[in-house]
Amino acid sequence: MSINYQDRIPNNVDLGSNRTLQRALEHWQPEFLKWWEDLGPKDFQVADVYLRTATSVDAKGWATYGYVRMPEYRWGIFLNERDPNRRIGFGDNFGQEVWQQIPGEYRATLRRLIVTQGDTEPASVEQQRMLGHTAPSLYDLRNLFQVNVEEGRHLWAMVYLLHAYFGRDGREEAEELLERHSGDADKPRILGTFNEPIRDWLSFFMFTYFTDRDGKFQLKSLAESSFDPLARTCQFMLTEEAHHMFVGDTGINRVVKRTLEVMKELNSDDPHAIRNAGAIDLPTVQRYLNFWFTSSLDLFGSETSSNAASYFANGLKGRPDEAQYEDHIALDQTYSLELPDGSGIKNEQIPMRNAMNEVTRNSYVRDCEIGVKRWNRLIEKPGYSFRLTLPSTRFRRNIGNWAGVPTTPEGTPIGPEQFAAHLHEWLPSESDQAFILSLMHGVDEQGKMAAWIAPPDRGINNNPVDYEYVKLH
Ligand SMILES: [Fe+2]
Ligand SMILES: [Fe+2]
Repeated sequence: MSINYQDRIPNNVDLGSNRTLQRALEHWQPEFLKWWEDLGPKDFQVADVYLRTATSVDAKGWATYGYVRMPEYRWGIFLNERDPNRRIGFGDNFGQEVWQQIPGEYRATLRRLIVTQGDTEPASVEQQRMLGHTAPSLYDLRNLFQVNVEEGRHLWAMVYLLHAYFGRDGREEAEELLERHSGDADKPRILGTFNEPIRDWLSFFMFTYFTDRDGKFQLKSLAESSFDPLARTCQFMLTEEAHHMFVGDTGINRVVKRTLEVMKELNSDDPHAIRNAGAIDLPTVQRYLNFWFTSSLDLFGSETSSNAASYFANGLKGRPDEAQYEDHIALDQTYSLELPDGSGIKNEQIPMRNAMNEVTRNSYVRDCEIGVKRWNRLIEKPGYSFRLTLPSTRFRRNIGNWAGVPTTPEGTPIGPEQFAAHLHEWLPSESDQAFILSLMHGVDEQGKMAAWIAPPDRGINNNPVDYEYVKLH
């Protein structure tokens, strides 16, 4: 199922056969490009960037690599192939045929789900738009831009659904996706994390590890949807998304690796000494991890949610990897939830369907742990006792039952004074942020790395690490 690159909008949905839809999307295309120029990566629009572009939706050999100027990237509409035997995998309509059109009663809800997903994609491009100037290497600069163009394509994926299945309301929503902006006081992006500024590369790596991974789990839930075009578009987005998390995972790994080298050279784990040597001490890495992990936890929503229950019942949004569960109806099961109880914790049984956000969040946390284990193995090897850890899902929450409840990172409820007194140990302080910002200087010499990060183990697409991943001149 190869992609048609002859059309103005590359696609594998036979766009040419639907003139009205094609015209509507061709009308939106220049607005998208205008947005890209205004709010996409600042000052690098004429650079040649070694990017991958999707050429097929087959798992093997789905992309080609080559130099592209970002505004000339072929953003398009790519859905996984339709499985004619696909059946609804969960909820009240389990086993029935999946939908190729949207049942009227679910229109508003599905539109909201698609808009909320779509809103995060351009938001992250806006959040990251200044990072090009401070990239620690050309390799990293290229990865940033790869992530950025693909988030732009994910916006296309959602805008296609809005245009193709929601008529006029959908077209209006597509316009608004370019009108809300990250951090805008009047028209912010829909979800909190996507309004947090990303000023430095440590935050960028944390964001791509933790927040893009939230994206992975949202996409996995939507890839289960009974609305088949949504499921198929999300399945293909997941293929691209994997690289974004790779950037975060290996980025943090390289920061830790460099820090350990400096610790060895200095024969010290004193944060001041490490900072003086131009590397990032591990407690600071932990504080940035705490910030982005907890912020991303909120994206899954409240622990108890009647919306989540009805999404599940109606087959709109499932659990990630629904096939792994035995009971796809989940009507008679309960979930044991931990709730704040004065200065302690109590357990409450709630219907399983109401706990779907929490079920998804738990899968997410397990997935996050994999990278943390890998980073810790690096620290463990030379014999250091420090360990990076994921804080409790009760810590620093702004949404759900634990919102505003002060706890330690381990999740033990504490008083507000105690919380305030320790906050600088748990979250990036102003001086941490100033220090991290002081390290941020762009390195644009081929193969060179900033002093606070180790080189990657290998380059992109079998090229060497010192390849000219971005041609700046
Ligand atoms: Fe995305
Ligand atoms: Fe992403």
